[in-house]
Amino acid sequence: MAVRLVIVANRVPNPRERAATAGGLAVALRDAVARRDAMWFGWSGATAAATAAEPRVAQHGRLTLATLDLGEQDYRHYYRGFSNATLWPTLHYRLGLAQFSREDYAGYREVNRAFAAALAPLLRPDDLVWAHDFHLFPLGAELRARGCGQRLGFFLHVPFPPYDLFCGLPRAQELVADLAAYDVIGVQTEQDAANLRGALAAIGQAGAAARVGAFPIGIDADGFTRLAERAERAPETERLRQSLIGRGLVIGVDRLDYTKGLPHRFRGYAQLLARFPQHRGQVSYLQVAPVSRGDVAQYRSLRRELDEWVGRINGQHAEPDWTPLRYITRAVSRPTLAGFMRLARIGLVTPLRDGMNLVAKEYIAAQDPEDPGALVLSRFAGAAPELAGALLVNPLDPDEIAERLDEGLSMPREERAARWRPMAEAVRQGTAKAWCRAFLRALEGTASVAEAAAA
Ligand code: G6P
Repeated sequence: MAVRLVIVANRVPNPRERAATAGGLAVALRDAVARRDAMWFGWSGATAAATAAEPRVAQHGRLTLATLDLGEQDYRHYYRGFSNATLWPTLHYRLGLAQFSREDYAGYREVNRAFAAALAPLLRPDDLVWAHDFHLFPLGAELRARGCGQRLGFFLHVPFPPYDLFCGLPRAQELVADLAAYDVIGVQTEQDAANLRGALAAIGQAGAAARVGAFPIGIDADGFTRLAERAERAPETERLRQSLIGRGLVIGVDRLDYTKGLPHRFRGYAQLLARFPQHRGQVSYLQVAPVSRGDVAQYRSLRRELDEWVGRINGQHAEPDWTPLRYITRAVSRPTLAGFMRLARIGLVTPLRDGMNLVAKEYIAAQDPEDPGALVLSRFAGAAPELAGALLVNPLDPDEIAERLDEGLSMPREERAARWRPMAEAVRQGTAKAWCRAFLRALEGTASVAEAAAA
C-alpha cells in the first residue's frame, strides 16, 4: 500500500465544495489524495484570540483535514504582513513594493514553529510530507528541529527571482537556508530552478542546490474541456452571447492582484481602441477580477486605480449601445468561466510575473477545436515556455498589447487552429496529475536529508 501523503499548505480545501467547481491546489492534488490515505494540514481560515496549539481534526473518507485557527496577531504578521506584503512582492520581482518589519518576520517564523509543533505529533515514520508555497519556507527546518526524519518535499508555486534581487530582503539568507531542510525542492520553471540553485550555492548549500527541480504545474485538461463544452449552452453563456450581438469577446480572469498587470492591460486595450479604430464597436472586453487580500494596503489602492481606469476607458470610448470594457470584481463560478472562455475570441493573460498561470492553460482547454480563439500571453508567465503558439507580449508595454490584440482579433481561423493544436497537446500532456506524480516520484525516490545525516 502506498505510504501516507501529508500535504501542508496555508490554505486547506473546503470538503463541501463539489469536485467539479473547486480550483487551485485542491484540483492539482486531487489525484494524489484520491489514491491513498492522506492528511492535509494548514490554516482553518479563521482567526481566534491566539493561535491554537492543537489542530482540529476531521475525517473525510481517506482524507484527514487538520486545521489550526490563527491568532489575530499571527494573522497580521504571518499572513497579511510577511507572506503577503513582504515575500509575495519580492518573489514576484517587486522589491520596491515589499514592506519589511521585524515583527512581521518574527510572526512568520512563529507560525511556522506553531505549525511544526502541531503537526509533528501527527506524523507517522514513513509519511511523505509535502509543503506548499512561500508561507512555509521554514516549516521543514522546524520539523527537523523536532526530530522529524520523514521525507520532506517543498513546492514553490510562485517565481523565485535572481538571488541578487532576493538578497535585498532582510534575512534573505536565513530563508534560503531554511529550504535546505527539504529533500526535494520544486519550482515551476527552469528559470526559477536556476535562480534558486544560484541562491543556495551562494550561501554554501551546494547539496541542497542539487535537490532543486522544475516541475511545471498543469490543470485537469479533459475535465476543464468537458466543463466548457457543457457550459457552452448554459443560460449564463447564452446571456453573454446575446449581449455581444456578434462582437468579438476578449476575456481576462485574474485575482485582483498587482502582479497580474491589470492597469497595463487596461491601457493596452485603450490603445487598441485608439490606434486600431476598425475594432471600435466590434469588440467587448470582459475582465473578471475577484477581490483578493482586500485588507493589504497595496491591494486596496490597486482596486481604486482599476475603478478609475474602467471609468476612464468607458467614459472616453463607449457609445450609447456599446460598453467597451465590462468589469466584475465578484467571484464567478468555474463552470460559468469555462463557458465564457469558450465563447471568447481572445484570452488575455498578461501578468507582470507569474509562477505558472493556470488561466492561460484553462483558456486553451476551453476552446472549440474547430474554431479556437487566440491567446495573448505575457512572456513573464511561467506558462509561456510551454505555450509556444501564444501571441507573446511584454506585459509592461501597452502598445505591444494593443498590437497583439489586433493581430489576434484579425487572425484567420486556420492560423488560430494551427497555433492552438500544439498548445492543446501540451496542456493535455502536462496535467495536474502528471505534475503531482512527477514530484511524488522524485520525493519517494530520495533518501531523507535527516536519514543521510544520521547514517
Ligand atoms: C496564489 C498563491 C497561493 C494562494 C493564492 C490565493 O496562487 O500561490 O498560495 O493561496 O494565491 O491567495 P490567498 O492569500 O487568498 O491564499
